[in-house]
Amino acid sequence: MFQTDPFNTATIEGMLEAPGEKWHVYPPDVIPLWLADLDFPIAMEIKKALLNAVHDEDLFYNLDIDARKAMAEKINARNGLETTYEDIMITQGVNPAMWLAIRHTCKEGDEVVLTNPMYGPFSNAVRVTNTKPVHWPLEFDEGYGFDAEVLKELITPRTKLIYVCNPHNPCGRVMTEEELKGIADVAVDHKVKVMVDELHEDIVYDGRKHITLATLNPEIEAQTMTAWGFSKTFGVAGLQMGFLCATNKEMIEDLRKQARGVMRGTSTLAKAAAPVMCSKALDWWRRDIVVHLEKIRGICEKRFDEIGGITYSKLEGTYLMFPKFDYGKTSDELRKYLLEEGKIAPSSGTGFGSNGEGHLRFCIATSEAIINEVLDRLEKALHKLK
Ligand SMILES: Cc1ncc(COP(=O)(O)O)c(C=O)c1O
Repeated sequence: MFQTDPFNTATIEGMLEAPGEKWHVYPPDVIPLWLADLDFPIAMEIKKALLNAVHDEDLFYNLDIDARKAMAEKINARNGLETTYEDIMITQGVNPAMWLAIRHTCKEGDEVVLTNPMYGPFSNAVRVTNTKPVHWPLEFDEGYGFDAEVLKELITPRTKLIYVCNPHNPCGRVMTEEELKGIADVAVDHKVKVMVDELHEDIVYDGRKHITLATLNPEIEAQTMTAWGFSKTFGVAGLQMGFLCATNKEMIEDLRKQARGVMRGTSTLAKAAAPVMCSKALDWWRRDIVVHLEKIRGICEKRFDEIGGITYSKLEGTYLMFPKFDYGKTSDELRKYLLEEGKIAPSSGTGFGSNGEGHLRFCIATSEAIINEVLDRLEKALHKLK
């Protein structure tokens, strides 16, 4: 345990001394907001598991059954999906599971539905597999609702996969049960398989409950692959571990077959840390991180309102705010301007698809001190444009 609030200790000077890509891509006078990584220390429980593994010289080729058993327990307890370790495949983070899901479902030229906007690597997986992206537009003015009627219209005989990201990056939505049922009905009616990325499942606000799509009914469960990981909750992206679960035996068998000899799971150190990250021992972290992020979200909303010319839909989940800026500049122009003039580095909204035009994405997983400095810099730079 930490002596002080671990979520509120980050300083600019400290982060510049720390390792990690986020703070070392831009010059040191720029505050980075582009990458979904935490400005928080690593939980002691995770560090202990890693150090113990080194002490025990757990660095040989090794089995992953203990890690998968811990993952299955977590899925049963937290997601309400009845599963065993045999239904789970460890992946090197969540991103490779996107590629694997296409390998399992599609031939070249088949269609994959994904939202616009959406986290970029989904599109990359479509591109490298020579499949065809079919975009499901999410509208900012409509609160980024997931309208199953729109989804239904996109399905053709060539549609083989629907990608779902919930909680959604970058829109910050947590899907309601009704929205999930709508997606499940379309998928089941048209016999289209689904890959759901639930990596941000722990970061949901205002007492919301994250719902795992595969728990809705046995039909959708049989057609769904669900990916989880640890990078977003615990700031351990460097461990490069995710896990893909399919209770449909043929599906998980084929996923393993597609990966054989190409994907090697993950490192022994990551596997050694998995049990504690799946366990109740870190429930305090899951609870406290959300309390802290709700506070940071509130600070951002207040300042966005005061600055003016910024609209946003309330962040329901994730620590990625996706506001829209009415300053007569495109996303790319504004990103560049804020980098040069404001010394802050959010991501351009169009990096997530054409419907991200006008938006910037800010990772807000930082301390109050840093977010206040970010917002001061944003205000100063934007006022020069008024
Ligand atoms: C929705 C989503 N999926 C996957 C990833 C990648 O996660 P990992 O590094 O664990 O593969 C991210 C990273 O931000 C993400 O936001």
